[in-house]
Amino acid sequence: MSTVIKGGTIVAADRTYEADILIEGEKIAAIGDNLAGDNTLDADGAYIIPGGIDPHTHLEMPFMGTTAAETWESGTFAALSGGTTTVVDFVIPGPEGMIAALDAWEERAQRQASSDYSLHMCVNGWSQKHFEEMAEVVGRGINTFKHFMAYKGALMVNDDEMFASFQRCAALGALPLVHAENGDIIAALQQKYLALGTTGPEAHAFSRPPEVEGEATNRAIMIADAAGVPVYIVHTSCEQAHEAIRRARQKGMRVYGEPLIQHLTLDESEYFNPDWDYSARRVMSPPFRDKSHQDSLWAGLAAGSLQVVATDHCAFTTEQKRTGVKDFTKIPNGTGGLEDRLPVLWTKGVETGRLTPNEFVAVTSTNIARILNIYPQKGAILPGSDADLVVFDPKLTKKISAASQKSIIDYNVFEGVEVKGLPRYTLSRGEVVWSHGKNDQPRPGRGRLVKRPAFPAVNKALSTWKELVAPRPVVRSAEHMPIGV
Ligand code: URP
Ligand code: ZN
Ligand code: ZN
Ligand code: ZN
Repeated sequence: MSTVIKGGTIVAADRTYEADILIEGEKIAAIGDNLAGDNTLDADGAYIIPGGIDPHTHLEMPFMGTTAAETWESGTFAALSGGTTTVVDFVIPGPEGMIAALDAWEERAQRQASSDYSLHMCVNGWSQKHFEEMAEVVGRGINTFKHFMAYKGALMVNDDEMFASFQRCAALGALPLVHAENGDIIAALQQKYLALGTTGPEAHAFSRPPEVEGEATNRAIMIADAAGVPVYIVHTSCEQAHEAIRRARQKGMRVYGEPLIQHLTLDESEYFNPDWDYSARRVMSPPFRDKSHQDSLWAGLAAGSLQVVATDHCAFTTEQKRTGVKDFTKIPNGTGGLEDRLPVLWTKGVETGRLTPNEFVAVTSTNIARILNIYPQKGAILPGSDADLVVFDPKLTKKISAASQKSIIDYNVFEGVEVKGLPRYTLSRGEVVWSHGKNDQPRPGRGRLVKRPAFPAVNKALSTWKELVAPRPVVRSAEHMPIGV
């Protein structure tokens, strides 16, 4: 069976043009005028964009004494309904190590996912076992390793552990990812606010000021540079972190930054709401920032110093959030956004002129596909690419509401936001999996694992240059040495 998408305007990261798209099986077969197929999808008045890739999700993540309530089934269906066709989730090793955790993640995802998915591995300690397992993880199609500089006493790693792991990444052709916040200082500030009796969600923001993120971002970049490996900073939320990334890139370092749709559009005042539940539902790390930081993040996306917009979808119910009712440090950290990322970014970014439609495509799919080494299978509208496509209708509107969302969480941090621009159709590998106004349902087991090969080329370029300019010992002849020593 073949399908032709007709009458739309194709928006890619590099250009905009009018053409039909012929899909055969799971792939794009041709792009051109007057194409014919067994079925036709109407894209009149709509844009056709690559399916979104969300490189940062935590579906059913065990965290802070509980498990994120958004399941692989509900989360990946929510993603499709919002135009995201691939999610990349983080595997968190337990005491049994990386491989056991990877098996468990793959099993959960494979059984439940409606969308395609890929995985990152977290490095939450350092030992010979970590060193060895990393090679096996790369062999299983994972080329990214995440490091937490925060969550002291839980996921946090120290500088020496990070340096060891980054060097291992360099050798394996893998890319380290970093949650950059100074975990020691946060732990101390948390105790300070609790001692002062400030126990509410606002203290979550007070104890994680932008400076702790800026410092850690600089440190992560320095460690990556010393290890000779590129680095990707997740959830870049403030000017201090963006400034570190910008400066490193100007010095020629391969450093990437990922703002979240939440940080681009929601600010710190959310934590000052008199309703405890309202504020606690918005507790995530890094916290929402003062509005001034949003201008920096938007500018970075337009200028190219920041490359990707993600969600860090890690969704807990109100009931789960209430664990921290007497102590903000016990509120499970995380917010949702999987189904709202594209519509909210289009509305607040493209409709306002902060981003061009091409920049929108770059930051929602193409850039991350390239960074993760799955381009042009994903993130592209090219013959041979997976037919992960969104017929995006800029005239469709809705008011975001938990009552009508696909996510199973009982609230939405974007509640009440009016969006303009929604998927008319979402296609995953050639199949229509979401149609606006139809009662589509999750299709657990349909999603497929996207394996990502290591990228030796980038790491080789870096290590070749490092080797060329490495410090060399000075060779001194006997006549230039002190006599008799
Ligand atoms: O608050 C957050 N971001 N929760 C998820 C875990 C993480 O730090 O990415
Ligand atoms: Zn994080
Ligand atoms: Zn995260
Ligand atoms: Zn001499």
